[in-house]
Amino acid sequence: VLSPKLTDLYNLDGCIVVIIDVFRATSTIASALYNGAERVIPVAQVDACIEIGKELNAITAGERDGKIIEGLLHGNSPLEYSREFIENKTLVLTTTNGTQMLHLALERGADEIITGSFPNLNSVCAHLKLRRKNVILACSGWKNRFNMEDTLFAGAVIDNVKDFFEIHCDSSLMAQNLFKVQKKDLKTFAALTTHWHRLAKYGLENDMLYCLSENVADVLPFYDKTKQCLYSKT
Ligand code: MLT
Repeated sequence: VLSPKLTDLYNLDGCIVVIIDVFRATSTIASALYNGAERVIPVAQVDACIEIGKELNAITAGERDGKIIEGLLHGNSPLEYSREFIENKTLVLTTTNGTQMLHLALERGADEIITGSFPNLNSVCAHLKLRRKNVILACSGWKNRFNMEDTLFAGAVIDNVKDFFEIHCDSSLMAQNLFKVQKKDLKTFAALTTHWHRLAKYGLENDMLYCLSENVADVLPFYDKTKQCLYSKT
């Protein structure tokens, strides 16, 4: 289990990297692909998002500090991407931490990249069990700092796949333990976190409740390095 500032300490070569941003980027990616988006293009910069959106006639979306950015059409709410709206469309997404973490993993030579969140927990775990490669659970955190909700999800993954892997990292043991202690009432615990408070100020509690719901958008977002996009791998 790593966070952005720790990326240099890990060798990503030959690993599956699971990008995790529970509130809300990777939950939004799962939701859009589950509802039939053709692909999600994760980009690091707002300018690039606008440019790619124009070029592809795609939906541009994202946030900085939780707020929709001027110049983009939509925000980073998983509930915005209903089937009626997103089916067969391309979403170009830029966010404060999640899409940055994905690009960091790419720069650092990750072999294979998928994204994970509670809405697609089962698909992520099934894929990891099938592939049996080394796994890095990349928690996006908040502006290079640790956060609780991403660690909780990392713990949920570890708890699910533990019998198929050896665990070589105390942060993984910590994450698993945290999840086991809190899993009966994730909502009450998650409501204590800093990002919950940040988003609650904008009235986004329903987003966060969705983001804590297991397997409601159970797809496997898989990053295609050639096409530079995430698509749903079946
Ligand atoms: C991020 O990438 O930091 C987020 O998903 C922030 C958010 O929109 O809640």
